[in-house]
Amino acid sequence: MTARAPRRGSADAALARAARAARKRAYAPYSRFRVGAAVRAGGAVHSGCNIENASYGLTVCAERVAVAAAVAAGARRIEAVAVASGTDEPTPPCGMCLQTLAEFAGPELPVRLVGARGGTLDTTLGELLPRAFTKRFL
Ligand code: THU
Repeated sequence: MTARAPRRGSADAALARAARAARKRAYAPYSRFRVGAAVRAGGAVHSGCNIENASYGLTVCAERVAVAAAVAAGARRIEAVAVASGTDEPTPPCGMCLQTLAEFAGPELPVRLVGARGGTLDTTLGELLPRAFTKRFL
């Protein structure tokens, strides 16, 4: 899903709201672990939720769905990301999603993790995935 970007300054709160809204659309009948994510890119907010499959390995995480929506809309640079989960402790993106984010953002990428009761942890991609493998090594 894609929405217009909020005015600057409120962007991070808006991104967290978009991630929470996306979480409501999670399809997680197997794990029941519902996740929402939103990325800001190119003046817009793109959101995603986790989408599970009866063939478990085909499951796609919320973060990769949000990145795919942004890239499919023409974006190539992700400016911020928020992730909303249902646990009290905010949960970080998995390794595969961190690597996917690293394809479209540098280590300074702001990452906002939002827990069930609104508890928030602000970090960066570089903190979560130091020494990422990127195209500069190819
Ligand atoms: N999941 C995400 O959507 N994002 C993460 O960063 C971690 C895990 C999903 C995948 C699966 O549907 C469920 O959470 C449990 O692993």
